[in-house]
Amino acid sequence: MKPITASLTALFAFAILSLEGSDRFITLSNLPMGTKEEPLVLRTYFPDPGLGREVMANHDLGFRARKYSPGKGDVDGFVDPIRGIPGAIGVNFGSELSICWDTTECRLLYAWQGGFLDMTQYWGKPESGRRKGFDYVPSLVGELIYLARGSHPVGIFDHYTEAPKPVFTGYRIVEGVPEFSCQIGKATIRVRIEPGEKPLEIVKKYTIEGAKEFGYFESGYKFKEEKTGPDTFTITLQGKPVSSEGAADEDPDYSTDNPNAGWGEALYTNLGCFACHSKDGTRGHGPSFAGLFGAERTITGFDRPVTADESYIEESIVNPMAKVVDTYPAGYMPPYPIDKKQIKSLTLFLKTLANE
Ligand code: HEC
Repeated sequence: MKPITASLTALFAFAILSLEGSDRFITLSNLPMGTKEEPLVLRTYFPDPGLGREVMANHDLGFRARKYSPGKGDVDGFVDPIRGIPGAIGVNFGSELSICWDTTECRLLYAWQGGFLDMTQYWGKPESGRRKGFDYVPSLVGELIYLARGSHPVGIFDHYTEAPKPVFTGYRIVEGVPEFSCQIGKATIRVRIEPGEKPLEIVKKYTIEGAKEFGYFESGYKFKEEKTGPDTFTITLQGKPVSSEGAADEDPDYSTDNPNAGWGEALYTNLGCFACHSKDGTRGHGPSFAGLFGAERTITGFDRPVTADESYIEESIVNPMAKVVDTYPAGYMPPYPIDKKQIKSLTLFLKTLANE
């Protein structure tokens, strides 16, 4: 296989392909496919088929934002975050295996068989070159055989107290197959993922440098581990059809359809509450949110304490001057005229901090 020599820009995604043969205009087909010998690498938005929060730990949830018009500025209504995985890299080995590898989590998120992606929603119809809807997320073609669960499968045991965030450092083509690199703390992890010999098998070839102690654990799937050198090992993962119930984890809720604590946590960051309210009990410009929900509050000018229940929280957000917490300045917190679902989400998030 020849090295990668061209890249095409398709809206915000980069489509990269090998220039073998005449098949260089990848966007002419909305069903691009590679082969086992010449896998196709495609950077695009990917759909989220039901990944859990623990898998997507380093992703921001996004939030519902005010609609904006270049001519008029802020206009009525809101836009929801794009429900997809923005920084992933897809590789297709023909109908046998497709994988979605994420550059944020630096891990394999899911794998499927039978096809790759249908890009129509993203690229539009090739005849007109125009997109009909407003959707960035292509759809998967085929059946899921693997969906990541739990925390990162590679554990670096040199760090006892903290799990450093993985940092993507790039990929290169080794023997025709992309090898992804990332850094976790001082350790460099490189992995090549390809189809196995047996049906539904996925083979991951790892090289780990700069770590004293490491291990591999994959929850929910059978796998074989084979040590191939001092820093290298191979994992043969047995995929299985992912049932639709299996795909829908208890709370992979990025949605802003219904109030949820995940959305509340995103709002805590995105609306700037964190600038004044800590999550860990530290006093800031405002009281910490740790242990707030359900606690008694002493209010300036009130003879009796008040319980921080749902209506107290709502009032504190919408009209902070109504009850000013003792020892804190009045009028310091700006009122947030946000909608009920957002308030409810923030309350659900505060509840998760109740026992901290
Ligand atoms: C500029 C600083 C600032 C920002 C930003 C801010 N607050 Fe506050 N907040 C305060 C201060 C100061 C108080 C205490 C005085 C008061 O009650 O008004 C307070 C009080 C509260 C209380 C009551 C706390 C208690 O211990 O009883 C809640 C609930 C609250 N804020 C929620 C929020 C939320 C939710 C956001 C983000 C949407 C937010 N605040 C953003 C400064 C801030």
